[in-house]
Amino acid sequence: MQPSRRKTPLFSGESFSMKHRKNNNLSIFVVGFSIFLFGVFMYNEDVKSIAEFPFSSRPSKPQEQQQQSIERSTNPVQETIKNVQESTSTVLMSSTTTSLEQPHQVQEEEEQQKIELPQVVEVEEEEVEDIEEVELPPEECDLFTGEWVFDKKTHPLYKEDQCEFLTAQVTCMRNGRQDSMYQNWRWQPRDCSLPKFKARLLLEKLRNKRLMFVGDSLNRNQWESMVCLVQSVIPPGRKSLNKSGSLSVFRVEVLSLSLSLESKNTDAKFCDYNATVEFYWAPFLVQSNSDDPTMHSILNRIIMPESINKHGENWKGVDYLVFNTYIWWMNTFKMKILRGSFDEGSTEYDEIERPVAYGRVLKTWSKWVEKNVDPNRTTVFFSSMSPLHIKSLDWDNPDGIKCALETTPILNRTTPLEVGTDMRLFVVAANVTRSMKFPVHFINITALSEYRKDAHTSVYTIRQGKMLTPEQKADPATYADCIHWCLPGLPDTWNEFLYARIISRST
Ligand SMILES: *[C@@H]1O[C@H](CO)[C@@H](O)[C@H](O)[C@H]1NC(C)=O
Ligand SMILES: *[C@@H]1O[C@H](CO)[C@@H](O)[C@H](O)[C@H]1NC(C)=O
Ligand SMILES: *[C@@H]1O[C@H](CO)[C@@H](O)[C@H](O)[C@H]1NC(C)=O
Ligand SMILES: *[C@@H]1O[C@H](CO)[C@@H](O)[C@H](O)[C@H]1NC(C)=O
Ligand SMILES: *[C@@H]1O[C@H](CO)[C@@H](O)[C@H](O)[C@H]1NC(C)=O
Ligand SMILES: *[C@@H]1O[C@H](CO)[C@@H](O)[C@H](O)[C@H]1NC(C)=O
Repeated sequence: MQPSRRKTPLFSGESFSMKHRKNNNLSIFVVGFSIFLFGVFMYNEDVKSIAEFPFSSRPSKPQEQQQQSIERSTNPVQETIKNVQESTSTVLMSSTTTSLEQPHQVQEEEEQQKIELPQVVEVEEEEVEDIEEVELPPEECDLFTGEWVFDKKTHPLYKEDQCEFLTAQVTCMRNGRQDSMYQNWRWQPRDCSLPKFKARLLLEKLRNKRLMFVGDSLNRNQWESMVCLVQSVIPPGRKSLNKSGSLSVFRVEVLSLSLSLESKNTDAKFCDYNATVEFYWAPFLVQSNSDDPTMHSILNRIIMPESINKHGENWKGVDYLVFNTYIWWMNTFKMKILRGSFDEGSTEYDEIERPVAYGRVLKTWSKWVEKNVDPNRTTVFFSSMSPLHIKSLDWDNPDGIKCALETTPILNRTTPLEVGTDMRLFVVAANVTRSMKFPVHFINITALSEYRKDAHTSVYTIRQGKMLTPEQKADPATYADCIHWCLPGLPDTWNEFLYARIISRST
């Protein structure tokens, strides 16, 4: 994928800033789960195969509608994240450095598929609903402090069986999950509301643009969600998915034929979104020995914390960049830092504390962003860590088995929740993104996702490219995936945060 050479008018006068209140005590916290559990959850595949994308063209709404160009007021995007307040508890850090990860091979088929473009596109009257104004939350509203509200009316935002692009990893219902309430929770910020999700409005903003998720399988999870969120309004045959190496590209096709039907306002260019929603595999953001997009059986994860350009080349010229990195850090207490370079065949490494290594990597990443990204053109997001739910005692369920038996979020907590997230890394990420000259939007999903013990794929997923067998499904203690999330589901909410920011931007 070539970086786009397109020249964009500069958005002058937009001020982006991230204000955080002074971070208080670098919280101490419990790394409450043992090395054993680390072993167990890493066994449970932090990264699964990018499964087949079924291309059976399911007849979804074959409508392409003439599009109003939707004018939005020029809103400088400002995020004021209040209350940088971390819950305080105790650190019990084992000094042992042990990896109990068990070997597994994930063979992923590289696929290069594409849908043929049909010649005819139906044009229908636009729905009134689509031109209705969407209310934007005030710039200073903290979107991440709030609560989960059961809302069957508005959520899920799409149906599992209406998104042909979902992989078998995340289609929990199709994979046998019986309860579906996990799809109905809406995030309600305390002081404002998230804007109503409208795929067309988002696509308007993505017209002739690229949106790219960069990171690990959790970001891929979110990417799949985003593809589903936008694809529903694109008729079959006008959208395609191409997976090639580290890059997966969902493309809303260029429409070449003219649409000058009866209405003189109908203009082909208004129907032609020419947008991409992409995913780039770089689980540590920097160069590592885990960068192969298909072979994830690396036991001995080694990184080069100061080496990012090789990946970064693929991020240049993208209009919306969404970064994350977390899960691959979690299988050992210390990180292995290569002495020298993979290209020179170096194999020796040093081991340093995880937060220190994380800080070095994010420093490298932030320098790359400041040097290579034009803030007038590109919006950059950094997602905080996606939490795991592997110990049901964390939410006081002695009869639970990891996340496997959970059907509701954690609600009405009186005591702070602690599910073993390494908040030291959160603090580093919040600090680095806040300290940058470049205005990065810190998407603070960690705490709100910690409540969602009900939303993981659990045993309704694939493993090494194959659906769990009935025997495996019957053994959630071993096989439940309490890392990744069902779709529709929680990652849709993460994307609602992106949506809120993207539609707030002018042009
Ligand atoms: C998929 O992407 C790769 C890499 O960009 C490209 O070489 C290939 O032609 C694409 N395949 C299709 C079917 O578009
Ligand atoms: C961005 O736009 C502002 C205002 O037009 C301009 O002063 C600044 O030089 C631009 N920055 C870059 C990196 O182009
Ligand atoms: C992140 O959001 C949580 C609430 O979901 C809040 O308590 C915390 O202070 C926020 N942290 C930062 C750095 O914004
Ligand atoms: C389509 O979008 C890409 C950026 O994603 C841009 O480089 C290209 O010029 C656009 N094509 C048209 C016809 O506008
Ligand atoms: C949580 O507390 C509120 C207020 O006390 C109550 O209305 C609500 O039903 C409770 N929800 C659950 C799931 O217990
Ligand atoms: C936050 O980042 C700044 C700049 O990178 C650094 O000087 C400072 O020590 C960091 N503080 C914490 C608490 O990590």
